[in-house]
Amino acid sequence: MLKNSEIIQFRKQFINIDKFINYQWGGYSSKPLSVLDEVCSWQKYEGMLPSSKEIHTAVQEMKTAFRKKLAAFTGCREGELALTDHTTNGINLIGWGIRLNPGDRIILTKHEHPANILPWYNLARRFACEVVFLDALHSDSMLLDQLETVLKSGHCKVLSVSHVSRQTGFRLPVRELSAAARSYGVFSLIDGAQSVGNIPVDVREIGCDAYALCGHKWMLGPQGTGALYVRRDAMKKLFPSLIGSKSQVSYDLQGSVEWKPDMDRYEYGTSAVTLFAGWLKAMQLIEELGWDRVFSTIAAKAHSFKQRLRETFGNIVVTPMDQEKSSGIITIRLNKGTGVEFSAYAWEHGSIQISSLEQPDQVRICSHFVNTEDEQEQFFALLHTYLQRS
Ligand SMILES: Cc1ncc(COP(=O)(O)O)c(C=O)c1O
Repeated sequence: MLKNSEIIQFRKQFINIDKFINYQWGGYSSKPLSVLDEVCSWQKYEGMLPSSKEIHTAVQEMKTAFRKKLAAFTGCREGELALTDHTTNGINLIGWGIRLNPGDRIILTKHEHPANILPWYNLARRFACEVVFLDALHSDSMLLDQLETVLKSGHCKVLSVSHVSRQTGFRLPVRELSAAARSYGVFSLIDGAQSVGNIPVDVREIGCDAYALCGHKWMLGPQGTGALYVRRDAMKKLFPSLIGSKSQVSYDLQGSVEWKPDMDRYEYGTSAVTLFAGWLKAMQLIEELGWDRVFSTIAAKAHSFKQRLRETFGNIVVTPMDQEKSSGIITIRLNKGTGVEFSAYAWEHGSIQISSLEQPDQVRICSHFVNTEDEQEQFFALLHTYLQRS
């Protein structure tokens, strides 16, 4: 675990971290100043002589360094990663890459973010497919049984589920889910928006075909950064979806084209590459503390938060207590007012940022390693006052 002195030191890197309490890391993170500076200096550099060979080479080297770092961090090869704008971009790249036919079934869970539902609704309408939702989300064995029943009934083409539920912070058994999908020849995509930087992620160990993630949440990177992993041998299961003038090795005007062999074929146009210099910086900063220590700190803080919530306010915690099944996300259900009302109250009366969830109505607290004991105290005092109000 990280020492308090290390956390206090790390907090100095954020501009206004003491002006409000951020429990919304699973929405948008605050960024260390050096991450923002890195983006600005790359923007200035790239913008000075954008077509010069020197700058082009430097940008390519930075991209290579970024890809290396992220590949090592997530347990894959560099060529298996495409740099994207966000998680949703990765989900769409897969959705449009899979060859869907009328009658095919797309399997999701009822806890998915709209970003992992709406692209599939769109595809289902376009190709006359069916979306099936799994809802046994409180027990691994029940969830796996439910998946098995759906897979057995046939016509399944793709399974797309979160690694960590944005709704409850529950860790889904993605390894077992991917293995079950594979045994029926079904493509498995994991939505890692709430997992990467929050819990350890090793895509090879999970064994999924693809994993979509972003930089702007738990990783402390800039908005507009994401990545898509596709296992080398799963790449051939995808028809190239979004493609452009940076996707090919060669082409001619007679209609032939050879795509790049790696996932960078999906970096198809001119993108905001400088943002990735910021994300790289963020990874380097966290790496200096040690990812293992960061993950154990997130887990321990969330655990003590949940325990205290239970002891003080009774049975309001929706997130599992088991550290192996949970993460830095803590979801609570209040029997007073709505989640929207409490989130607004927390901001107005305590400068505390939390988020409200719908269906069902809940409140989500995203506790990162940089959050302090004092911030926890302030949250408890605020919740206590809120619940006492008539
Ligand atoms: C589980 C999950 N998936 C996808 C998204 C969308 O992420 P992005 O904005 O990176 O596309 C979010 C955003 O909160 C999320 O929580």
